[in-house]
Amino acid sequence: MRIEDIKKALESVKYPNFSKSIVEFGFVKDILLDDKNCTILLDITSTAKDVEEELRKDISACLSSFGLNLTINFNKPKEQTQQSNSVSGKNIAPQIKKIVMVSSGKGGVGKSTTTVNLAVASAMQGKKVGILDADIYGPNIPRMMGVNGMEVEVLGNKAKPLNAYGVDVMSMGILMKEGEAVIWRGAMIMKAIQQLLTDILWEELDILFIDMPPGTGDAQLTLAQSVPVSVGINVTTPQHVALDDSRRSLDMFQKLHIPVAGIVENMSGFICPNCNTESDIFGMGTCEDLAKEYNTQVLGNLPIEPAIRKGGDSGKPIVYFEPESITAKRYMIAADKLISILDSQNEVSNADIQPIMPAGVSACSTEGQKIKAEHEAKKSGGCGTGCGCH
Ligand SMILES: Nc1ncnc2c1ncn2[C@@H]1O[C@H](COP(=O)(O)OP(=O)(O)OP(=O)(O)O)[C@@H](O)[C@H]1O
Ligand SMILES: [Mg+2]
Repeated sequence: MRIEDIKKALESVKYPNFSKSIVEFGFVKDILLDDKNCTILLDITSTAKDVEEELRKDISACLSSFGLNLTINFNKPKEQTQQSNSVSGKNIAPQIKKIVMVSSGKGGVGKSTTTVNLAVASAMQGKKVGILDADIYGPNIPRMMGVNGMEVEVLGNKAKPLNAYGVDVMSMGILMKEGEAVIWRGAMIMKAIQQLLTDILWEELDILFIDMPPGTGDAQLTLAQSVPVSVGINVTTPQHVALDDSRRSLDMFQKLHIPVAGIVENMSGFICPNCNTESDIFGMGTCEDLAKEYNTQVLGNLPIEPAIRKGGDSGKPIVYFEPESITAKRYMIAADKLISILDSQNEVSNADIQPIMPAGVSACSTEGQKIKAEHEAKKSGGCGTGCGCH
């Protein structure tokens, strides 16, 4: 038996769903024969598992009479990485280049404080920045940014974000009367968050920070799935009990294919306002191991400092009002690290995340493949569907 005989036999193996054979398509790249041991290398264009399985079955059946010990190897294109918004399939704010989600496993660890200071630090470094307060149960961002009680300008049926320290801000706390209690149910939360993106006149932004409600329940999961998130940041305090909760938040990012930009270790040590020395209260530096475990980095260690709390309560973020303090400098470094990460993923901007498939059409289906081909063909001039391909 010769290699030519094997190749001839393979001419009868059709590429799944096509009338041409794998030989005609030129997918058979190599056949190695060593006595009864035969290795076939195929270079195929599909990532689908069932195409590979069907080919294995058909090739084995076709060569069964040859009595060979058969090994079939496949070269396949890399599977496209899933994006965080793959569930909703929508990009509801393409004018926003990057969305950063600030999350934690438990409440009160300093998410809102971190969001405010990182956002202001990023704006101080020249970025166009916004904050969306997604904590609709306890919206604290308006107070922390000093915009609570301010009137919102409405143009047509859309509201303009407020602006403070160079950062655009929107929150349910701005739209509702102060102290008003709302009982939000699952579907209402989704709708409210979507409206905070679509019915607010967000300008072109480099970065939109989303301050999440505490925890990793259904509301957080649904929210994280409904917007295309570029990166996630996990905020935690250094005690081990808090780190356990942090794992849940980091697992949520992983589950949703959201790259983790890093961990902020908040309340890490205490800086005495009198003597300026730093002492250990909840522990310090415990997040390094957690960061390694999740293949990420610590963006910053922020001490417990009365000036941080005062800045939050008075709407005067420390990073803006005390730029020479140790804490402000640490926020600036953390923002710098975040911006580098976002810049390094520049080849994928939010506009590119927009899926090209209409709702309910799988990209792997025949119809999906056709749409994809048409999209590619028209890409240079834009496909005219508003999908952001031009
Ligand atoms: N490093 C810090 N030093 C001193 N006070 C801090 C520090 N970080 C946060 N705080 C204070 O701790 C309180 C809780 O912080 P923050 O509201 O940012 O937490 P959160 O995680 O957003 O809470 P929630 O889960 O309720 O949304 C605030 O009063 C804030 O000013
Ligand atoms: Mg908060």
